[in-house]
Amino acid sequence: MHIAPFATEQYFNLYEFSTPHILGASDCETMSVGELLRLAQANVDDLLDLRLGYTESPGSPALRAAVASLYKTVTPDEVVVLGAPEEGIYLTLRALLEPGSHVIVLTPAYDSMLNLADHISGHVSRWPLRVQPGGWALDLDELERLITTDTRLVIVNFPHNPTGYLPDAAEFDALLDIVRRHGAWLLCDEMYRGLERNPADRLPSAADRYERAVTLSGLSKTYGLPGLRTGWLVVHDPALRAALINWKHYTTICASAPSEALATVALGIDEQLATRSRSLIADNLELADAFFARWPEMFDWRPPRAGSVALVGLNAPSATDYCHALAREAGVLLLPGPCLGADDHSVRFGFGRAGFAAALAAYERYLESRG
Ligand SMILES: Cc1ncc(COP(=O)(O)O)c(C=O)c1O
Repeated sequence: MHIAPFATEQYFNLYEFSTPHILGASDCETMSVGELLRLAQANVDDLLDLRLGYTESPGSPALRAAVASLYKTVTPDEVVVLGAPEEGIYLTLRALLEPGSHVIVLTPAYDSMLNLADHISGHVSRWPLRVQPGGWALDLDELERLITTDTRLVIVNFPHNPTGYLPDAAEFDALLDIVRRHGAWLLCDEMYRGLERNPADRLPSAADRYERAVTLSGLSKTYGLPGLRTGWLVVHDPALRAALINWKHYTTICASAPSEALATVALGIDEQLATRSRSLIADNLELADAFFARWPEMFDWRPPRAGSVALVGLNAPSATDYCHALAREAGVLLLPGPCLGADDHSVRFGFGRAGFAAALAAYERYLESRG
């Protein structure tokens, strides 16, 4: 059966490995296996001795224990390790939804959250973030209008891709209260948690706050290790967990053994890895602030409150055409807003990469050359 194109990945596939200046990626700068092992003071021989058999479907006990320790109330049994973070969205939606299930999705949204929900249920309500001068806002009144006692699932993502939006604690509480009152499940994508500009803004994980929350996290963004493809879900409800793992037997059966081992090493230095990403983002955001101040006619700069990305207004007839031309003519990759369901006058910038300064300079030369 037809499913909508995964526009973000299709766009990246065109340019990601051939374009020198990556200015729109959402992941943070990665490192080599050697750097990771050295940073964690891990023993290489442990890795060399690792046997390459299947691992346990819910995830290796050591990794599940390391993941559980990131939360306040989560036990290792409640953790399901994934073949990739992306898989967690698939498994959750497969296990929770059937044709006709009502789903509310905060938009814009990472493609699969919206497209897959729509593909399975055919009954999705979009809940748009509101743009306001210099940022974004959650419209809780609109959520109250959309939700009913028949709503099966609400899907959110904080810190948010692509806007960099993060609600404050009171708004997050109000959101949980609305979802709880209607008895709906909540899929809370926390892939960028830990990347708050002000650490005091960090929200509690939904896993520690709501029994019907399914939370998604992983090592791709905050921890800069997307090549490990390590992600996890926290699922409190045993029946839902069993249903998810049954779906997992149809996708990956279990995670990759080397990735699980390296992920366990990485979670031993989780704060160090997150601090490295946060400081890179902070440096790059300083450059971005100055850049956008120099081009006020061209961009509507909406700085992120958290995460590694921002959705910036672009003064061009079509952001999509503009981004294709920019990649071809200047070798600079920005992501057009429509890939993530945003309007065609917006582009996503990413601030997590070490090459950001050089990429921004290349972009500025291009802007200057066009007058
Ligand atoms: C909000 C969000 N969730 C999930 C994912 C999937 O992560 P991964 O590509 O590591 O599977 C992404 C990737 O960009 C994302 O932005």
